[in-house]
Amino acid sequence: MSRRIAAKITGVSGYVPPRVMSNAELEKLVDTSDAWIRERTGIRERHVADPGVATSDLATEAAKILLKSKGVPAEDVDLIVVASVTPDMMFPATACLVQDKLGATNAWGFDLSAACSGFVYALTVGAQFVGAGTQKKALIIGSDVMTSILNYKDRATCVLFGDGAGAVLLEPTDRDEEGILDFVHVVEGSGGKFLYMPGGGSLHPASAETVQMNMHYIHQEGAQVFKYAVRRMAELACEMLERNGYTSKDLALVVPHQANLRIIRAMQERLGIEDSKVMINIERYGNTTGGTIPLGLRDAVEQGKLKKGDLVLLVAVGAGYTAGGVLLRWAY
Ligand SMILES: CC(C)(COP(=O)(O)OP(=O)(O)OC[C@H]1O[C@@H](n2cnc3c(N)ncnc32)[C@H](O)[C@@H]1OP(=O)(O)O)[C@@H](O)C(=O)NCCC(=O)NCCS
Repeated sequence: MSRRIAAKITGVSGYVPPRVMSNAELEKLVDTSDAWIRERTGIRERHVADPGVATSDLATEAAKILLKSKGVPAEDVDLIVVASVTPDMMFPATACLVQDKLGATNAWGFDLSAACSGFVYALTVGAQFVGAGTQKKALIIGSDVMTSILNYKDRATCVLFGDGAGAVLLEPTDRDEEGILDFVHVVEGSGGKFLYMPGGGSLHPASAETVQMNMHYIHQEGAQVFKYAVRRMAELACEMLERNGYTSKDLALVVPHQANLRIIRAMQERLGIEDSKVMINIERYGNTTGGTIPLGLRDAVEQGKLKKGDLVLLVAVGAGYTAGGVLLRWAY
């Protein structure tokens, strides 16, 4: 069964807050070193939002840059999907806040929670509406202020993440040879216990006790997540290539979720792809969760790594566990 969706990415953008936090700065907060962070994760620095700057602000900036570059008025947007695990608040949805800030008065929208796989999930979901012809212009945004849920006393997590957002514009296509060729999505809920934020939800509503117990921060068993990420990203990538009759040699570019350079390199090795075909920017941004893949696409376009007709694979793993991939032909 073909999973082709008659929708294509017609524009991409990103936004990161201006403040840069280096590894040296983290050395002053926790018992870590620039050498350890670079060697074990590939991260050199990350961007950090100022207090009062929220996920919707980064998302709106990314969307504004995108619409401006395309010459599309905000009123022309039909749908806004925001992938995030750090919404501005429990409700309303960040998509509603973005709709208002953008002045996208004709758009509906919603948030999607799939952690680091959020952007690829949102891309598939938004593309279904565009491909069905019911929406003409969909903004798919991945945005997170991860620093809002980081414990700067936990060296095993606080060095990994950064803040950022990226967005793509999805529009219909009637050409079989471009747009989304295939997608695959997975949930393995038994992995939920390895990466989560327990406090502030209906199970453990925010209280002095939940704060005292650090339940409003990320908790992670890094080695477990690492192993799952390497295996799943490689599996999903191979599955999509194989069932579409391609090999990794046919790929022009893989844009993987940027969680750890070693995860990306291990996946790359399993796929047998050369360095030049793997988009990597983790050294500058760290793991921005919803933002990594659109920021990767943005940087790839800016660096001239993508051209019309290129076969591109997006692949991600995240808390949940969630995982997913999208295979597409670049359309501009
Ligand atoms: C977190 C992660 C970088 C840790 O790297 P690792 O090589 O697995 O390191 P380990 O967990 O085996 O820890 C090795 C040692 O380094 C220490 N360590 C952890 N963080 C450190 C830091 N920032 N600085 C210095 N030492 C650190 C550990 O305490 C441990 O010390 P010990 O042996 O004395 O107990 C890695 O597991 C990882 O990237 N996991 C996936 C995380 C991820 O991507 N999450 C997002 C979801 S998509």
